[in-house]
Amino acid sequence: MTSTSDRLIDFLEEHSTEFLHNWRDKIVISEEDLYKTEVLRNGLRMYELVKRAIRNPLSEEEIRMLAYKTAQERVEANVNISEFVYNVNVGKSEIIKWVSRSGIEWDALQRYLEEINSLFDRFSYLAVKQYTDIRDKQLQEKELYIDQTHKERLTILGQMSSSFVHEFRNPLTSIIGFTKLLQHDHPDLPYLDIMQHELDQLNYRISQFLHVSRKEIIESKRETINLADMFDDLVEFLYPSLLDGDVTVKVDIDRDLNVSGNKDELRQVFLNLVMNSIDALQQVPGERELKIHSTVKEGMLHLSIINNGPQIEEGTINAIFEPFYTTKELGTGIGLFICKKLIEKHGGEIMCRSTEDETSFTIGLPLWSEVTFVKEKI
Ligand SMILES: Nc1ncnc2c1ncn2[C@@H]1O[C@H](COP(=O)(O)OP(=O)(O)O)[C@@H](O)[C@H]1O
Ligand SMILES: [Mg+2]
Repeated sequence: MTSTSDRLIDFLEEHSTEFLHNWRDKIVISEEDLYKTEVLRNGLRMYELVKRAIRNPLSEEEIRMLAYKTAQERVEANVNISEFVYNVNVGKSEIIKWVSRSGIEWDALQRYLEEINSLFDRFSYLAVKQYTDIRDKQLQEKELYIDQTHKERLTILGQMSSSFVHEFRNPLTSIIGFTKLLQHDHPDLPYLDIMQHELDQLNYRISQFLHVSRKEIIESKRETINLADMFDDLVEFLYPSLLDGDVTVKVDIDRDLNVSGNKDELRQVFLNLVMNSIDALQQVPGERELKIHSTVKEGMLHLSIINNGPQIEEGTINAIFEPFYTTKELGTGIGLFICKKLIEKHGGEIMCRSTEDETSFTIGLPLWSEVTFVKEKI
């Protein structure tokens, strides 16, 4: 006497071609699928697994092999996993349809139906999990690669800027020196003050590169800096650019506010931010306003540089601090990157908020505490 399971298996064996045919007609599979023919074979393999499961419950190991194999193929074929899940489900319905037509009484069929359901559930789970794991791993590798190239680009920038700084700094220093001598010998010579001012600007621009070019900044000198004085100085320094750009400045900083930090570096940060604001304001047809103000909260200084310029889209706010991100024809995209590094080195943080009405860059710096300088990692 043959057992129910043997009868069922025989029945499925007789109808395997029809099953495959029906399944093939219903599944979603692209003509370009790398593993088009393999998909059909996998269908048959699954059919074999069903037959074995009817005989004996399957171990996870047995299901895993086929699940991992198909997952790998789906990744390589670059197919959305939902198509795969759909095809597996079509297979399951087809098989259940055939099983229920086997002529075996319903009660006797129940345990086989349960076994088949469980086989398909476990198979889908393992395959989808494996598919996601492979995809995640690929993504991580991609990110690692991007990180790597990012670092390489920074190294190139470092090399570029060291030679840049060398080649430009030396003649510049001597030009600045000779201009001073000229002014000393001929105090009435016209245009010298303008030349000096422009040379100073150039010098500052160049030192921007200096900050990125030094891989590890030697502990920089720290001193007490009066913020209001520093901004008076900056506004004076930038006066020609402000005038030229038609920008009105309002500085509102408590005259008693002192921070401890490196003067050159903080000046560099504020200079970058103010110059960016002037640039952004050029897009405003009406009044161009630049506001600088400070507040103190819980031992932290918050210094904001605000302009009523164009909005920075939500999606780009983080990108602007990345090196080389620029929207300007002649931009370098390293200004904000350097600002962030220098502020972090001072134990602070820099944030940007932008609405339709105004864009603000706010720097938070610890006021009184003895901050240890964070060694710069670039
Ligand atoms: N105040 C601002 N308003 C609007 N956009 C800004 C402002 N500051 C910076 N940005 C945007 O951030 C980008 C990166 O700035 P930055 O790193 O200083 O490089 P760069 O000034 O050379 O472009 C700018 O090109 C600009 O698109
Ligand atoms: Mg800039």
